[in-house]
Amino acid sequence: MTTIETRHVGSALNRVDGLEKVTGRARYAYEHSLRDLAYAVPVQATIARGEVTLVDTTAKLPGVIAVIWHANAPRLAPSDDSELAVLQSPRVAYRGQYVAVVVAETLEEAKEAARVLRVEYAEEEHDVELRADHPRVYRPGSADDHPDEEHGDPDAALAAAPVVVDRTYSTPAEHNNPIEPHATVAEWNQDGLILYDSTQGATMLRKAVAALFGMPPAHVRVISPYVGGGFGSKGRPHPHVVLAALTAKQVGRPVKLAVTRREMFAVTGYRTPTIQRVRLGAERDGRLLAIVHDACEQSSSIAEYVEESAACSRMMYAAPNRRTTQRLVRLDVPTPSWMRAPGEAQGMYALESAMDELAVACGVDPIELRVRNEPETDPGTGLPFSSRNLVACLREGARRFGWAERDPRPGVRRSGSTLIGTGVAASTYPVFLAPSRASARAEPDGRFTVDIAAADIGTGAKTVLTQIAADALRVPCDRVTLRIGDSALPAATLAGGSMGTASWGTAVVRACEALAEELGRAGGVVPAAGLEASADTKEEVRGQAKLSRHAFGAQFAEVAVDADSGETRVRRLLGVFAAGRILNPKTARSQFTGGMIMGMSMALLEESLMDPRFGDYLNRDLAQYHIPVNADVRDIEAVWIEEDDPHLNPMGAKGIGEIGIVGTAAAVANAVYHATGTRIRDLPIRLDKLVR
Ligand code: MOS
Repeated sequence: MTTIETRHVGSALNRVDGLEKVTGRARYAYEHSLRDLAYAVPVQATIARGEVTLVDTTAKLPGVIAVIWHANAPRLAPSDDSELAVLQSPRVAYRGQYVAVVVAETLEEAKEAARVLRVEYAEEEHDVELRADHPRVYRPGSADDHPDEEHGDPDAALAAAPVVVDRTYSTPAEHNNPIEPHATVAEWNQDGLILYDSTQGATMLRKAVAALFGMPPAHVRVISPYVGGGFGSKGRPHPHVVLAALTAKQVGRPVKLAVTRREMFAVTGYRTPTIQRVRLGAERDGRLLAIVHDACEQSSSIAEYVEESAACSRMMYAAPNRRTTQRLVRLDVPTPSWMRAPGEAQGMYALESAMDELAVACGVDPIELRVRNEPETDPGTGLPFSSRNLVACLREGARRFGWAERDPRPGVRRSGSTLIGTGVAASTYPVFLAPSRASARAEPDGRFTVDIAAADIGTGAKTVLTQIAADALRVPCDRVTLRIGDSALPAATLAGGSMGTASWGTAVVRACEALAEELGRAGGVVPAAGLEASADTKEEVRGQAKLSRHAFGAQFAEVAVDADSGETRVRRLLGVFAAGRILNPKTARSQFTGGMIMGMSMALLEESLMDPRFGDYLNRDLAQYHIPVNADVRDIEAVWIEEDDPHLNPMGAKGIGEIGIVGTAAAVANAVYHATGTRIRDLPIRLDKLVR
């Protein structure tokens, strides 16, 4: 694939929307005010399983316009995503599920009426605890489409291997907490439905909502120019959007609905907890003979949501014998959803912890161990890698981090009551490319506008797309205006799977190239009416050569553990990444370090605790659900290795949104082991687990 000639791509352009954001001019979903607005406040189930038998709508409270529940809600068309069948049945599938909504003239009136609303239930016994030996553990997917994979004879290889590591690792449920909670403003007019929403993908949301209301997608418009973070939680459509649309339809007025942070812990998805058994069989020198990675996760009773946590063990290391399996238990819990590197974050924590245990068992340096197991081609598919620079990342990281001086013995570096340790782990994330459309327009005054229904959820995508368009048009960045975040713009894939910028950028390049051709035909003169061209990358994406495309990285951590209290501080974090061409070093660095901080947080802080009696997650706010603050982040650095991969897209870029979190938790956990000699295999690494 030809790559574009780069002038602006690769430079540290400041965010094109930075000024709007810091001056408060950028309007987020909830800030869109419409005339005649009503306020919707949802009511959540207080049982984990059963049926709603009655919602008492007789109370006459001030300002209340309507109380809607399944008995009086408009009917929706059936959907593939049963989480979206809001108020369509009396069934309660999880605690916190929406069972009613109150609409009132003011937010305060709606809140008060929702608070006192009487809902009666027929409660059934619930089952909310994930166990690998749960009687209802099953293999998800159909017979010919299941995420299990096997090569060689892993059981025989394990039985014969001179060194075996056989460990089980677990990770907790985690909840996404972007700075902007989810919110929707819904308005119906003669053309259909308008949604001001905080979403990672206007095109996808439009399609889902249109289907539910039995309309062609063109009758729904999703407007989302600014999104205050998402990390995946604003990727798949969630029930609140449907609730807002349904409510606005019922009352015949525009409706505002803000999901509170407390509600987010039930209705906007979460990272599934995992139980992962990893078995590694190796020669005494650390060369792998077998990898077996068995992952068990949860989903809800209403949807089969699968995250392939074991998939990373198919492509990371060379081993002649291999098996990866994926199991699921359907519980009376909310449906899990995407959270930064869903699957890879948990899977690589387990695999890279096991690799560290193997390094200890063999007495081989953990970096050297990984180098010895570097595969020639993708071990799972047999395909060549488009580029794979894991070893270069490990070597460069070792040099920068000062790894050569490391004493491998655990628990021997003490300064006062503090134990010091260092750890390393590998990172990886697949490179995806999804079809998108874009259009580009030239004006007689020399300005250009590029349109695409992309989403900038704080990543800097709008800025980077401006750079890409400027290079494709061969003009300065300040002559290009990007318009994004509106489903009325050319349809585009979502900001997810670390594929947004690569996918949108490809469409932007093609639209700009087509416009440049038009301009050429017009003799370089833009007519008074302007010139326009568009592109659709469907064929280009379909025509991509079959290759194994992944970004790689190496994460290094230094921790200090208080020997008396078990308090763990991450003193240093270094990430070295090989992710194709870096399109903007300023926004890229933030993406990488943001991911790394989230990975550190996964190692030490984040954890949603299930209360089996009530069948619900106990923590409901940032006082109880811990995320890092500035004081937790000391010396953090992300750097990258130049990678010239011609098999990706016209920019030569791999995605960078998620790889930063992958491997970080293992690097921290490995450092904690090196500091203390205690191996914690159950995240997060809390004080009470370290000091017993
Ligand atoms: Mo990201 S978790 O793929 O939105």
